[in-house]
Amino acid sequence: VGNGLANTPQMGWNSWNYFGCKINEKVIRETADALISTGLAKLGYRYVNLDDCWSEVQRDSKGQLVPDSKTFPSGIKALADYVHSKGLKLGIYSDAGAFTCAVRPGSLFHESDDAKSFASWGVDYLKYDNCFNLGIEPEKRYPPMRDALNATGHTIFYSLCEWGVNDPALWADKVGNSWRTTNDINDSWASMTETADINDKWASYAGPGGWNDPDALEVGNGGMTYHEYRAHFSIWALMKSPLLVGCDVRNMTAETFEIISNEEVIAIHLGFKEGKFMHMGLMDAFKFGLARFLSKRMSVVLWNRCSKSGTITAKWGTLGLESSTSVSIKDLWKYEYVSKNSMS
Ligand code: GLA
Repeated sequence: VGNGLANTPQMGWNSWNYFGCKINEKVIRETADALISTGLAKLGYRYVNLDDCWSEVQRDSKGQLVPDSKTFPSGIKALADYVHSKGLKLGIYSDAGAFTCAVRPGSLFHESDDAKSFASWGVDYLKYDNCFNLGIEPEKRYPPMRDALNATGHTIFYSLCEWGVNDPALWADKVGNSWRTTNDINDSWASMTETADINDKWASYAGPGGWNDPDALEVGNGGMTYHEYRAHFSIWALMKSPLLVGCDVRNMTAETFEIISNEEVIAIHLGFKEGKFMHMGLMDAFKFGLARFLSKRMSVVLWNRCSKSGTITAKWGTLGLESSTSVSIKDLWKYEYVSKNSMS
């Protein structure tokens, strides 16, 4: 990619899952404030990312992208200045097509102009969508924006949103800092598990500089239970997916905060090699994942995919351990060691 970013997957917030098109500069500023006041920013959630609908429905008379004058009357530069004054970074959104998915102007064939606008506003991140793509392959449409961003001289994180079209894990690591492996997530257990499964296929292709992106988090949006959201967050962390919070952080519950602020789960996201789910064999309905850490640490998600409770046994052999290996086990959701130096 050439911008030196994404040594670890991006963390922050994205407007789409909760707000959709109903965004405005007040919401974004208050979100930045909330990331600071709740302590989430300190944990690593630093990107404040606008999604679709920040721009006018048409370019201006000079052919330039302009912010929606009703919802972003102060402009993007002022918003970026505000977000930067809090020590955070601002993300913006456009589309590698004629229009965005909500039918605002797209950047296809306007890459240089638009990249210059983003850079001149002080934008730090671009999510680049795939609607109205004129049937041109993503491999052709995404590199020009990479080059245009790099040419601005301003360092801009480049997040591809090509919906997994044409197996991006195989080509996108030279194009973007992350690429979507899937269609859009929605706020349901079924969607979350399906999205995780698709993303998991590409586990071995992600690494520093370029990450698999199974879409932003739904934690806190109301469609799943506390335990389901905890699973969602654990799985995203294990897979080293971008952790972009997708709820209204200004009004989140204590439970939502507890989930997204689990420091040790975040540490797995930041420090461990990408996890890969493995079938337990015994019951297809149960899955667990594992990730190895260089210093002999391992994280395992025991993922119950059934509609009832059950016991999942992670055998040492399946985990790749010698049967005589002695381990200490910490339950990161109980925040305590459940056994020390136990053997199995
Ligand atoms: C597409 C993307 C989503 C979101 C919407 C906005 O569906 O995949 O992540 O950006 O467009 O319109």
